[in-house]
Amino acid sequence: MLAPPNIAWKKNKSMSRFWSAVVHGLTPYVPGEQPKLANLVKLNTNENPYGPSPKALEAMRAEVGDSLRLYPDPNADRLKAAIAEYHGVKPAQVFVGNGSDEVLGHTFLALLKHEKPLLFPDITYSFYPVYCGLYGVNYKTVPLTKSFEIRVEDYMVPNGGIIFPNPNAPTGCLLPLADIERLLEVNADSVVVVDEAYIDFGGESAVALVDRYPQLLVIHTLSKSRSLAGLRVGYAIGHPGLIDALTRVKDSFNSYPLDRFAIAGAAAAMEDRSYFEETCRKVVATRSRLVGELEALGFDVLPSAANFIFARHAGHEGAELTAKLRERSIIVRHFRNPARIAPFMRITVGTDAECDSLVAALKEVLATPV
Ligand SMILES: Cc1ncc(COP(=O)(O)O)c(C=O)c1O
Repeated sequence: MLAPPNIAWKKNKSMSRFWSAVVHGLTPYVPGEQPKLANLVKLNTNENPYGPSPKALEAMRAEVGDSLRLYPDPNADRLKAAIAEYHGVKPAQVFVGNGSDEVLGHTFLALLKHEKPLLFPDITYSFYPVYCGLYGVNYKTVPLTKSFEIRVEDYMVPNGGIIFPNPNAPTGCLLPLADIERLLEVNADSVVVVDEAYIDFGGESAVALVDRYPQLLVIHTLSKSRSLAGLRVGYAIGHPGLIDALTRVKDSFNSYPLDRFAIAGAAAAMEDRSYFEETCRKVVATRSRLVGELEALGFDVLPSAANFIFARHAGHEGAELTAKLRERSIIVRHFRNPARIAPFMRITVGTDAECDSLVAALKEVLATPV
């Protein structure tokens, strides 16, 4: 009889001796939890509380059939055309990938690895330093201001590239487009990447600037405003010369990052403007109601242009509130590091009913003596 695999595994205590040196040096990204329990109020990973466009679901259903024996289009032309049409750019200015995480990963390798350091905020999407570790990118973090904002003047120094999310994560704070343009005017010799994962919830997209600034790359995802986190689709828009670099990396890694469902579903989601606009409007309306209610409970909430808010309470630690919410089946995200953001909780804007449950739970927690 074969030994159960776990017994064989236990005998080999030092399997890491087979690892390459690169793997020994990695500090991988830790994604937000995806609990298997039902009946949770899940406000921890900035998913959209509304389902995907019915037209996207229909388009994916139509892909179930014999054609699945064939590889998908390696260039995802149908999807690129839909993205180009939505943004008013040419398909040659569009790159698509398996989630914007993959698009970001290719960008770090293709465009941001240079002798001079890549610059990004000290408080930002925590995947950025992970890509730097994976690809050996030299980087330097730039502190946010006291009020947790990006000050573009701080990036006007010699660099091998610049990247930041706009709105920033996990703060939700928005940098006005005019500031991005001021940065592009003085920073012509390295690539500036604006990660617009959350832009549809309250900001003006830098895609409007790509024709004037060839060094600008704008990255989007369908995981948030298009409610398709489970499909894994992201894209970049920029000068065809930048897109070419990304395609060279992609074709040296995986020719078919998007399957037939992803190409069809994402294209239909890009085309369904009215559903997209309606769901974004609902999220934004719930966000302003939630902010008002949390402020009434004594929370300090950073101004958010995203589908999440970043909130702290003078009388309670972020970790403590997160744990107490968890006891009440409500999951939000807490970051221990850097220490400056430890007092905060990052709360995804859910449905009105989910946010009502959150506010009711917080009222209860705040009313209970510590
Ligand atoms: C700022 C930012 N960029 C990119 C992503 C990645 O999104 P996805 O890989 O789902 O497209 C996230 C996910 O939370 C994010 O917060």
